[in-house]
Amino acid sequence: MNEPIVLATSLQKRFGNITAVQDASFSIEPGEFFGFLGPNGAGKTTTINMLTGLARPDSGRLSIAGIECTGNVKAAQHLIGVVPDESNLYPELTGLDNLAFCGALYGMGRTARKERAALLLESVGLAEAGRRKFGGYSRGMKRKLTIAAGIIHEPPILFLDEPTTGIDVESARHIRKLISDLHATGTTVFLTTHYIEEAERLCSRVAFIVNGRVVRQDSLENLLAPVKGVSILSLCSTRSLEEADLAALSRSFPRYVFNPEKGNALSVQSEEAFPISPLVAFLEERGFPVLEAVRRRPSLEDVFVSVTGIGSEQMKKEGKK
Ligand SMILES: Nc1ncnc2c1ncn2[C@@H]1O[C@H](COP(=O)(O)OP(=O)(O)OP(=O)(O)O)[C@@H](O)[C@H]1O
Ligand SMILES: [Mg+2]
Repeated sequence: MNEPIVLATSLQKRFGNITAVQDASFSIEPGEFFGFLGPNGAGKTTTINMLTGLARPDSGRLSIAGIECTGNVKAAQHLIGVVPDESNLYPELTGLDNLAFCGALYGMGRTARKERAALLLESVGLAEAGRRKFGGYSRGMKRKLTIAAGIIHEPPILFLDEPTTGIDVESARHIRKLISDLHATGTTVFLTTHYIEEAERLCSRVAFIVNGRVVRQDSLENLLAPVKGVSILSLCSTRSLEEADLAALSRSFPRYVFNPEKGNALSVQSEEAFPISPLVAFLEERGFPVLEAVRRRPSLEDVFVSVTGIGSEQMKKEGKK
């Protein structure tokens, strides 16, 4: 087994009487795509800030590529790229000059950084906008340039804090593609997100963080294993079920698990495939007309909800960005 490229042991950070991150331990192997998934305020940014030297842990240990970094990430700075949630670039500089300036900070020579900046502008789709001031960019363009700045020095490890939050769908899609291409060419990626689907699509391993605690972490494959053979049906009615109706359903269909969902919907889960019509008939007899019945594939969302008790609607709420 390789040496972990990121090894965090019991990282902890408090702000006054708020414990933002508590006892966070994880180890990331070279080439992994590690996802940190949690709702607003869970401690994602605080964790990534501790890993990248933007915040000092109160306690715990950190090493990056075998370099002891606890309280001082400087020694490993050349190995890491950071894409913060809020851009750290200069509004008065053009896109090109911002990138060249970042290159200079990493000690790149004038020609090398100009060439690299031009190449990166091309690959993030900002070749045309490169001569315009960063301050005038759209949110999506800003995020793309911030990613380009984070990889100017071709770091083997890239940390990204919610890179697709608060931007348009097309830019988000482009950014996901950029990140997965970087991963495919060997970059180790640490990504925070509150999009469960994004974590499922991109990551090879995922940690769930809630209220500052890592409550579960595993490979995507292992996380999905319990729901692999499960059948899920979403039923939507004109009104929501009461406790008594749910109890009656559970008595009549003891092999199924029922969970009320948002908008008068009900999810039905079973270890094996099951017919829809007896359920529809049962509900309609009790005065719940069924508007829609949809079978769906179990996903990381089902696992996340069952581990954390946090529903997908809560996760989809975006923070101020
Ligand atoms: N500088 C700070 N001062 C005081 N409290 C802070 C500070 N930074 C974070 N916190 C608190 O620490 C907790 C974790 O915040 P953090 O920003 O790490 O969460 P997050 O998972 O990144 O959330 P989001 O999805 O909204 O970005 C929150 O309760 C937050 O209010
Ligand atoms: Mg955050």
